[in-house]
Amino acid sequence: MPASTYPDVMDKLVSLCKRRGYIFQSSEIYGGTGSVWDYGPLGVELKKNVKDRWWHAMVRARDDIEGLDAAILMHPRVWEASGHVAGFVDPLVDCRTCKGRFRADKLEDARCLQKPSRQPGQAEQCQLTEARQFNLMFKTFMGPVEETASVVYLRPETAQGIFVNFLNVQQSTRQKVPFGIAQIGKAFRNEITPGNFIFRTREFEQMEMQFFVEPGTDAGHFEYWKEERMRWHHAIGLAPSRLQYKAHEQLAHYARAAFDIEFDFGGTLGFQEIEGIHNRSDYDLGRHQEYSGKKLEYFDQPNNRRYVPYVIETSVGADRVTLAALVNAYREEAVPGEEEGRVVLGLHPSIAPVKAAVFALTKKDGQPEMARKLAAELRRAFPTDYDETGSIGKRYRRQDEVGTPFCITVDGQSTADGTVTVRDRDTLVQDRVAADRVRAYLDERLSAA
Ligand code: GAP
Repeated sequence: MPASTYPDVMDKLVSLCKRRGYIFQSSEIYGGTGSVWDYGPLGVELKKNVKDRWWHAMVRARDDIEGLDAAILMHPRVWEASGHVAGFVDPLVDCRTCKGRFRADKLEDARCLQKPSRQPGQAEQCQLTEARQFNLMFKTFMGPVEETASVVYLRPETAQGIFVNFLNVQQSTRQKVPFGIAQIGKAFRNEITPGNFIFRTREFEQMEMQFFVEPGTDAGHFEYWKEERMRWHHAIGLAPSRLQYKAHEQLAHYARAAFDIEFDFGGTLGFQEIEGIHNRSDYDLGRHQEYSGKKLEYFDQPNNRRYVPYVIETSVGADRVTLAALVNAYREEAVPGEEEGRVVLGLHPSIAPVKAAVFALTKKDGQPEMARKLAAELRRAFPTDYDETGSIGKRYRRQDEVGTPFCITVDGQSTADGTVTVRDRDTLVQDRVAADRVRAYLDERLSAA
């Protein structure tokens, strides 16, 4: 894969995320857990905003998609029917010399642990084993006895919770085909080679939607969802120049068509999948019918016929989109008239964790009181920070670095005439606004973004 024209900002982001409370390594005080991450105070807000934007676009703003929150633990037969027990495998090779473990089908993306300039198997001392199939599902036991009969899996995708509830949702809501079911939830995969921060982890969140359609109409729905999902990525601020479609060269056994939406993460990582759009045919409902013995047919009343619907799936990782949003937003720039440049997270205002920060220019003349009162008022409408420590320049820089779109300063003039300055993160333009108009002003600016 050719290197990206965008710079590699991953190391700087990892450090910013830790310093500012976006993302921490899991169990850090014990040396960390491999490729598992915790979202700090700002990270949890950012990821929640990403999920809220998705839920709004996919469920609340539509009358043809219903929401669902299915359990992580499911009947073990679900994973036999879905094909995961037999087929959710990656080929694994070990190196007897360096003890490294690699995906046999992705050796070109891996580095020998002793000779990082070579790929595994290419250095003289490498001793790779034969590839063996490794199932990516995490197994655990239900109940107090650890025996084969009590094996359950942590779900590797949320989709199956939707398939098995297809008729529950359809009959309780009286939806007519075509309609969809959407869900956000945790998924787990025992990845052989996780990495690149929160890009590939063993515990992650998916936002999936299955759209049930009449067979024969699937190609049209597939095209619709391909375009609709790209529009959503644009709407949360991902740069169109960093997004592209990629058709799957090899289709999974159940798929009739599949496209990824890829984002350019910069550096050598370059374009990588953030979302998959799949035409899954009637494979999943058909298999669950077969394995459960229960009919999963839709009754088309006007035409008096029953059929198993086809499914168009949109499947996107909440963590991967969060990472894409961070990479997309990170920039370092010079500030006119200042020696030190600034680091900015130019997050789209709709997903920025904090929408506004309020400062008092000095700690006297009633400025802190007025600023605190204004911050409390704004906090009722959206997440708002109050900061009175350090120079005003430092306070602006701190907010730039965490991506706060607006900074409001109470200064000497404010206590005299009741106005404050509102500074735009991106243009650095400062408007003077009456303090009692700030909320309306921000509402307008945030909704226009
Ligand atoms: N139900 C279909 C499905 O799960 P997938 O392509 O395996 O399809 C969909 O996964 C999305 O889930 C990916 O595009 C990615 O955003 C996210 N994803 C998958 N594995 C992941 C992992 N190990 N870490 C983080 N996100 C992951």
